[in-house]
Amino acid sequence: MKGFTRMIRVNENFLKLQAGYLFPEIGRRVAAYAAEHPRADIIRLGIGDVTEPLPPAIIDAMHRAVDEMAAAETFRGYGPEQGYEFLRRAVAEKEFGPRGVNLDADEVFISDGSKCDTGNFQEVFGLDNVVAVTDPVYPVYVDTNVMAGRTGGSENGRYGGIVYMQCTAENDFIPALPKQPVDMIYLCYPNNPTGAVATRDQLAWWVEYARSNRAIILFDAAYEAFISDPAIPHSIYEIDGAREVAVEFRSYSKTAGFTGLRCALTVVPKDLKAYKRNGEAVAVHSLWSRRHSTKFNGASYISQAAAAAMYTPEGRAQVKAVIELYMDNAAAIRRALGDLGYEVYGGVNAPYVWVKTPDGIGSWEFFDKLLHEANVVGTPGAGFGASGEGYLRLSAFNKPQRVREAMERLAKL
Ligand code: MLT
Repeated sequence: MKGFTRMIRVNENFLKLQAGYLFPEIGRRVAAYAAEHPRADIIRLGIGDVTEPLPPAIIDAMHRAVDEMAAAETFRGYGPEQGYEFLRRAVAEKEFGPRGVNLDADEVFISDGSKCDTGNFQEVFGLDNVVAVTDPVYPVYVDTNVMAGRTGGSENGRYGGIVYMQCTAENDFIPALPKQPVDMIYLCYPNNPTGAVATRDQLAWWVEYARSNRAIILFDAAYEAFISDPAIPHSIYEIDGAREVAVEFRSYSKTAGFTGLRCALTVVPKDLKAYKRNGEAVAVHSLWSRRHSTKFNGASYISQAAAAAMYTPEGRAQVKAVIELYMDNAAAIRRALGDLGYEVYGGVNAPYVWVKTPDGIGSWEFFDKLLHEANVVGTPGAGFGASGEGYLRLSAFNKPQRVREAMERLAKL
C-alpha cells in the first residue's frame, strides 16, 4: 500500500454480510442442477413469485394509462414522489376505511416495492437504536441493518447487537416480548416464512410494549390479503394506539400479481414520533417524506393506474379469485404433506407452508433432496435464520396442476 495516502474505501459493514442473499443462492443451486440435468422438469415452490397473469381489470387500466401517455393532452412526466393522489386516496378510503382504520391520503406513500421500503425505512432512525427481529425472519430486515452499521459481525448465523426473538412451534411462531430494551421492532404477519398469523391480543401486546418503551414497530403486512379467518386483524392500525408507534408496509406484488409490475405502499401516520437525543419528539412522517422526495421519483404512472384498478368492483372480484386459487394450492400442500406424516404449519391465512424436515435432517440437506430426487424447489428454513433450521418453506404460488404434481412426487420419495 506504500505510496497511497488516500484510497477509496468500502463500507465495511457490507463485508459483515453472510454469503449471498437467500433467493439468488437458491436460484444458483437450481440453475446448476438444471444445467447438469437439462431434461429435468423442475417445479418451483421456492421464492414467492406469482404465476397467474394480471387480472383483466388491471390490464384494462394499464392499456388506458398507456394511451394517455401516447397523447399530448394526457401525457404525464414526473409524478409526485409520494404517489398520485388518486391512488393514495383509494388506499385510505377503500383498503383501510372498511376495516375501521381512518387514514389521511397523505399518510400513504406509494413506492415500487415493499422489499425496498422495509429495507430503506431504517435510514430515518439513528444507528444506535437496538433492532429486534423474529427468528426466522425475512432476511431484508436484518441485512439492511447490517449494511447500515447497526450490528456487529456474525457468529453462528446471528449478528451481534440484534435481538433475535425466537419463533417456534411451541410459541405458535409468535415471539415473546423482549426482556432487554429494543427500539426498532420488525414484525411480519401473516408471517413470511412460517405462515403464522397474529391475533388481535398478540398485536395489542406489541403496541402496548412499543408505547411504554418509546419503540417503533415496522409492521410488514405484505400478505394480509391472504387472511381468511375473520378474527385476525389485517392491519396493525386495527389496534388502538398503533398510529403512535407503527409503520405498516403493504404490497400489490402477491395480492394482485404485481411482482413484475412493481407497486407497493407504506403507511406512516402523522402521530408517529421518534426522538432526538434531548428527548424532543420528531414526526417520522416528515422524515420519510423528505427521504422519499430526495431518493425516489415515484412509482410509474402506469403501475399506479393499475394498482388503483384493484379497488373497482371488477378488480376486487378478479383479485380475490386469484388469491383463492393460491390458497387452494396452500390447502392442497398442507393436506398432502399431512397425509404423508409431515408436521406442517401455516398455509391457512398465508400463502406459505412451513414444513418440519423429516428425521431431523438439516434444511439445506432436505432442500437438496427435494431438488435432486423430486425436482421440486422449496426454500430452506435455515436461510431465514437459526431457528428456521430443520424446516423448509413451500410457497403456494404456482399453477394448481404443478402443485398437485409436486405433491405426487413427494409422495414417491
Ligand atoms: C419470498 O419468497 O420470501 C418473497 O418473494 C421475497 C420478497 O417478497 O422479496
